[in-house]
Amino acid sequence: MTHFARKDLVGLADLDPDEIAHILDVADQFRDLNLRPIKKVPTLRGKSVVHLFLEPSTRTRTSFDIAAKRLSADTFSISGSSSSATKGETLLDTARNLAAMHPDILVVRHRRAGAPRMLSEALPNTAIVNAGDGACEHPTQGLLDLLTVRRRLGGFAGRTVTIVGDIKHSRVARSAIHGFSKLGAEVRVCGPATLIPPGIEALGCTAYGRLEPAVRGADVLMMLRIQQERLHLGSHYFPTLREYSRLFGINREKLRRWAKRDVVIMHPGPINRGVELEPEVADGEWSVILDQVENGVAVRMAVLYLVLGGRRTAASEGRA
Ligand code: NCD
Repeated sequence: MTHFARKDLVGLADLDPDEIAHILDVADQFRDLNLRPIKKVPTLRGKSVVHLFLEPSTRTRTSFDIAAKRLSADTFSISGSSSSATKGETLLDTARNLAAMHPDILVVRHRRAGAPRMLSEALPNTAIVNAGDGACEHPTQGLLDLLTVRRRLGGFAGRTVTIVGDIKHSRVARSAIHGFSKLGAEVRVCGPATLIPPGIEALGCTAYGRLEPAVRGADVLMMLRIQQERLHLGSHYFPTLREYSRLFGINREKLRRWAKRDVVIMHPGPINRGVELEPEVADGEWSVILDQVENGVAVRMAVLYLVLGGRRTAASEGRA
């Protein structure tokens, strides 16, 4: 019996803990498939997936594309600069035209918060998967973060996850807060007061204005990039990048002084080396950053499979 009966994946805010855990279980099975010499299964043969990415992306887009192709779906990619959005077409018109070609899934990245939800309501016959909407949610990133921590630490109960950086503009932070708190971890957010939205505690986390107390006792540190592209021109959220890095960046010395010895360091990428993370930490023994990327493919396979009904088990497909 499947525990995921939704047409779309818009955000982790919508999901209950059982649905999230079920996606992670299915992803775990696809993970094994990704380690085999032959990685392709016929699960989505005859299905078509359109990737509509109207904001830059390296990891997420490649990961969705690989995931869809390993499931034998036909994939089509549209990017910002090559789409009719540059000619003034609205997102809804673009999406309705694409939907008229009867794709099964539309994977959408858009700079406006709420774009995937709007499409999920407007297109009743196409599954919508959110690949990041403005500063709102990035649910598959949240899921791959959860899978990485579950595999590394065995579970979430009694664990503390600290998210550091530009919380205000980060869709990664929002999906992670929902996901980790729903699955039972304690979530802390930390950054300059200007980059922590008032009322964020309502999502189920605790806010810290200083790094040291936020790092002490944490099992996981998730470091975020300053979202320069979402900062309003002329606004100054902190004095300089150097000052930001001094107060909120992580280096070996801070880890040695404040962190648990086996703390896990995460980052969604792209990293601004020397700002939020020093290379010695990004590439050091604490880092699971490339595990996150590896798990991303399995998570996206699970999501593409489940939004289309997930009728066959991933395990049986793997044996096929
Ligand atoms: C993130 C994004 O685009 O939201 N990257 C990603 O998808 N892996 C984070 C970021 O750009 O800082």
